[in-house]
Amino acid sequence: QRLVGRELSEYRLIVVSNRQPYAFRMENGNLVGEMPPGGLTAAIDPLMRACGGTWIAQSNGDSDHLAMDADGRIAVPLDSPAYRLRLMDLTEAENDGYYYGFSNQGLWPLCHVAYTEPIFDTQDYEAYKSVNRKFANLVVDEIGDGPAIVLIQDYHLALLPRYIRQVCEDVIIGQFWHIPWPNTDILRICPWQEEILDGMLGHDLLGFHLSSDCDKFLDAVARNLNAQVDSQFGLVDYQDEMTLVRPFPISIDFDSLDAEARTAEVESEMARLSQEFGLDTGRILGLGIDRQDYTKGIPHRLRAVERFLEKWPEYQGKLVFLQAGATSRTNINSYMQLTIDIESIVNRINERFGDGDWQPIAYWPTSFPSATFSALRRLASFCAESSLHDGMNLVAKEYVASRVDEDGVLILSAFAGAAQELSSSIIINPYASEQFADAIHQALTMSDDERRLRMRHMRSIVQQNNIYNWAGRIMMNLMQASTPDHARLPA
Ligand code: F6P
Repeated sequence: QRLVGRELSEYRLIVVSNRQPYAFRMENGNLVGEMPPGGLTAAIDPLMRACGGTWIAQSNGDSDHLAMDADGRIAVPLDSPAYRLRLMDLTEAENDGYYYGFSNQGLWPLCHVAYTEPIFDTQDYEAYKSVNRKFANLVVDEIGDGPAIVLIQDYHLALLPRYIRQVCEDVIIGQFWHIPWPNTDILRICPWQEEILDGMLGHDLLGFHLSSDCDKFLDAVARNLNAQVDSQFGLVDYQDEMTLVRPFPISIDFDSLDAEARTAEVESEMARLSQEFGLDTGRILGLGIDRQDYTKGIPHRLRAVERFLEKWPEYQGKLVFLQAGATSRTNINSYMQLTIDIESIVNRINERFGDGDWQPIAYWPTSFPSATFSALRRLASFCAESSLHDGMNLVAKEYVASRVDEDGVLILSAFAGAAQELSSSIIINPYASEQFADAIHQALTMSDDERRLRMRHMRSIVQQNNIYNWAGRIMMNLMQASTPDHARLPA
């Protein structure tokens, strides 16, 4: 009932995430802010640009040269300020336990079916709790005495809503969980599952990508806590507080990616890259873009390309498959091992098939300016996203948004949330190499009409369910979740 008697505009918007939306660095004597790889910042930054407010995040330690107000807030984006960024320093030990430990070696593998064993270490969990408390202190300070809406992002901050709620009554709190939610039998692996569930029920609204994630969360609550669960409405009544649980499939800023793909800068990048890959001499480009993570199925994708070249040798000397995207979480063993595995598969395939100036696999394990990614998406005859499990996969949606020519084929894993909306892609099982190789062949031999029809359909879906539509639905549900009428909300 926190909204009663107040207008939405009276509330201050505070977004909280682990990752800061811009990494800052000096370039030719000028400060520049560059977006880190990953879906979260790409999705939330346009929202903050449109709404204003404060974004609280862990500091990268790169903000020393930036102008700040008395409370340490930085106006961003640097070239056209629209909202404020408030950064929080963590010690190395805090970050090791909270980020590398509990978040990314515990919760991350717990929530993704990718057969990497979660590690649950008591010290890591203690660090996770204490960092969530630290974030809560900063959020409470930012709320001040005004009414506020706090929108928390992701699995790093599952306990934060409870900690804020213990101090502030008059605040509306929602969270979007950017990764899948595990089924109840898997969740049991986490020794602190009840505390995590209790923490998340500090919310007025809890959002997941898919309704199946919501169902699994509600099932876990019903089985583990003394709570009343209405699965039909997605409503939990726990300790006299209500939490609404709803699906909000996240998206991208379609119009801005569409517009970028038409710029002269992208056209000139296309000309340069076309020459680099020999596309002007009849070669074909296939593309995979990912933050380097073991959930993305990169080795599976490369093996499918290998099988494709074996099965259809007429494409030897012709197809170049580019695997691009920055490495990530490189302090964690499973991520180091992934890089080693990818390099060895790339070398094996290139040694096996490479000939003269033709290497079948190009491997660029780094980040690039967005105009370069945009040009690559426009040039690639197909884009393959082969996640073993993925909350959404925004790269798939970005490929579609960049295809202003309505050409190109998307090959997409059935295990990515995006497959539910992008049913006009070629849906594959990334574990089934033969089927995956056949999908590449289907993409390269598809008729012009069919390609166009499929791409047009996917573009209209992403254009409609864009990031602003997503944010609008979250805000509307947040408002209604905090009124006495929330049980009558449409799903
Ligand atoms: O996809 C899950 C996610 O946490 C995103 O929300 C985020 O953009 C991405 O992974 C990057 O993760 P990190 O912040 O650990 O680099």
